[in-house]
Amino acid sequence: MTDSAPPPEPPSRRDDAQDTFELPFLQRLSLQLQGIVIAVVLRVTDLLLLLVRPRLLKPYLGLWWQRILRTPYAARRTFEMARALQATGQSFRELMYGETPLVTALAFLKKAGVGRGSRVVDLGAGRGRVLLAARWWGAGAHGVELLADHVARVAPWLGPAGITLTVGDMTREPLADATHIFCNWVAFSPETKARLVAHLRTCTPGTRIITVTRPIQAEGFTGHTSHWMLFTWGFEKVWLQEYRPKALPAAP
Ligand SMILES: C[S@@+](CC[C@H](N)C(=O)[O-])C[C@H]1O[C@@H](n2cnc3c(N)ncnc32)[C@H](O)[C@@H]1O
Repeated sequence: MTDSAPPPEPPSRRDDAQDTFELPFLQRLSLQLQGIVIAVVLRVTDLLLLLVRPRLLKPYLGLWWQRILRTPYAARRTFEMARALQATGQSFRELMYGETPLVTALAFLKKAGVGRGSRVVDLGAGRGRVLLAARWWGAGAHGVELLADHVARVAPWLGPAGITLTVGDMTREPLADATHIFCNWVAFSPETKARLVAHLRTCTPGTRIITVTRPIQAEGFTGHTSHWMLFTWGFEKVWLQEYRPKALPAAP
């Protein structure tokens, strides 16, 4: 665990034309193989864990099944994708999908103090795997996701486990009743992050916020503790912070 100020944000790269990365063949192959090995190890770990919580096994398999049937990113030029991007002013590369493994989500939610009586909100919830981990710890679980296709496919699988997943822009989601907010914002541009941080100021003081790769670097967000954790694409730092706005000066 570290407790130090993180380095500044890298500059913005909003150019959608750069969304294919030119890597030498062998390097690309080795990255792909690494991805496959990590994915297999994580899936097996998740499945073994779920034997302890069979109630969550069916929703988990449902998410997996929907992933096999179709990924919305196969059709990046669809009307739905264009409309979602226009509505928020984001670029396609910001919707790149990387999912948080159940085992990883269980670990960071535990570290963040999630338990019965907590309410976890995942901003940009994708297929909602993190929300299964929230239910594992007995917390309320809600996610908001920009892409309607994700939601239509997986919400019926998540509902029986007590999880709600709705279509929407995360920067408009009501946050007042969240005790813990998670955002896997690896691919978001600095502009999108800035919009999100402004919106996070609407949450209740004391709310804990968990982000991946980089913390929130803005006044009022304190803590800055981080842990290295495994994701489908490799190790990333997971940051835990708390929203503690400075007290307003007392009225005269
Ligand atoms: C990297 S995925 C993370 C999925 C999930 N939270 C997890 O960790 O497994 C980021 C998700 O954020 C969604 N997203 C991007 N911009 C959004 C926005 N403005 N509002 C809601 N969701 C958004 C993307 O469509 C994508 O599904």
